[in-house]
Amino acid sequence: MHAPLILAASRPATPLAGTIRVPGDKSISHRALMFGALAVGETRISGLLEGEDVLRTAAAMRALGAEMVQDGPGAWRVAGRGVGGLVEPADVLDMGNSGTAARLLTGILASHPFFSVLTGDASLRSRPMQRVTDPLAACGARFSARAGGRLPLAVEGAHDPLPLEYRVPMPSAQVKSALLLCGLNAPGLTRIEEIEATRDHSENMLRHFGAKVTVEADGAARIITLVGQPDLRAADVVVPGDPSSAAFLVVAALLVPGSLVRIEGVGLNTLRCGLFATLREMGAALSVENERVEGGEPVGDLVAAHSALRAVEVPWERAPSMIDEYPILAVAAAFAEGTTRMRGLKELRVKESDRLTATAALLSANGARVNIQGDDLIVEGGHKPAGGATVQTHMDHRIAMSALVLGLATPAPVAVDDAAFIDTSFPGFVSLLNGLVAGPAPIAAP
Ligand code: S3P
Repeated sequence: MHAPLILAASRPATPLAGTIRVPGDKSISHRALMFGALAVGETRISGLLEGEDVLRTAAAMRALGAEMVQDGPGAWRVAGRGVGGLVEPADVLDMGNSGTAARLLTGILASHPFFSVLTGDASLRSRPMQRVTDPLAACGARFSARAGGRLPLAVEGAHDPLPLEYRVPMPSAQVKSALLLCGLNAPGLTRIEEIEATRDHSENMLRHFGAKVTVEADGAARIITLVGQPDLRAADVVVPGDPSSAAFLVVAALLVPGSLVRIEGVGLNTLRCGLFATLREMGAALSVENERVEGGEPVGDLVAAHSALRAVEVPWERAPSMIDEYPILAVAAAFAEGTTRMRGLKELRVKESDRLTATAALLSANGARVNIQGDDLIVEGGHKPAGGATVQTHMDHRIAMSALVLGLATPAPVAVDDAAFIDTSFPGFVSLLNGLVAGPAPIAAP
């Protein structure tokens, strides 16, 4: 356990202004290390997120026999072992705070013929793993876990893995990706159906490394088919800036009067961009410049200026494309004219914290009017929050960053009980934000 890092955010003395970059995309960074470890040859990665979550993946892949070398900031080389070539780890694999690392790795381990144990911090140990272990068992792997399928989880990987056929019952890129990773080491076709399209970084990267993946769209649903036991070949990966990290700076710029912030090189995969579309519907001055394709992913520069926002209704179908962005959207909605209703947020309950409850609590503690109806979050924007509270972050980086952005716009400061978890996804968040202000740092120890 670390000593809690208590920080408070106050209204800045000047607008936010400047041109910045955010760290690499978390989802793509985990996958680059994992696919690199399963490919033959040396994969070079640039722009890798060096947040704690991704470093856990790097450590786990090393423990499984892949070589990972850091050449400089964000620049890594991975010497892979080929599909099915990982070796039994000598110790427990500790995935820290990272659900993506734990779930995707479980998929890899399920089709390797050895024993391993996964654990994590108190947040990760409370999160459901049966959503991956139930379908993965069909490949022949055996799992034992704590009550409710919680970590620590022991895995006896299949000796002759079978391909999987599964309809994923919840919108989850982690479940889809775990099954695809397992299917890599099984003969024949792995076929996964998702009821709503979720982020497709695994599909894109599998193709980039030479696997045969087909995707059939059927309205919102997708059927993904992977040809098993491919020769994955090392391929260089350029990781774009993380749109989920950029989201906090975009909303900060929208809320602080007079601000104009440019964020360069942000990943703009359409299955990740629901927040930006929603903010534009709310009247945000948010534009994209220099749209281009880098490393197989669309990338652009985001330009955000202070804006008067109006409430909108966010449909449930949009949730998978902005699932990590609801806490910061709720903060924006608290300053919008009218009542914002965000529908279909059931999945938020099983994130790093119960994010639906934590988001409502962070706003109501600071004087916003908010309530939860079923799986919907409703924020009444007519009553601007006053701030003044200390927010419980529940080991959740996105709750911590959302609370600090709120404090930039409320009359009284907003504090967080522990900002340390921000480093899981966005190392440097506080100094990057403070650097946009000409006067004294708005985020500091209280
Ligand atoms: C992720 C998928 C999402 C998201 C998480 C990253 C991924 O989780 O919340 O931050 O990289 O696949 P779910 O699959 O649980 O929705």
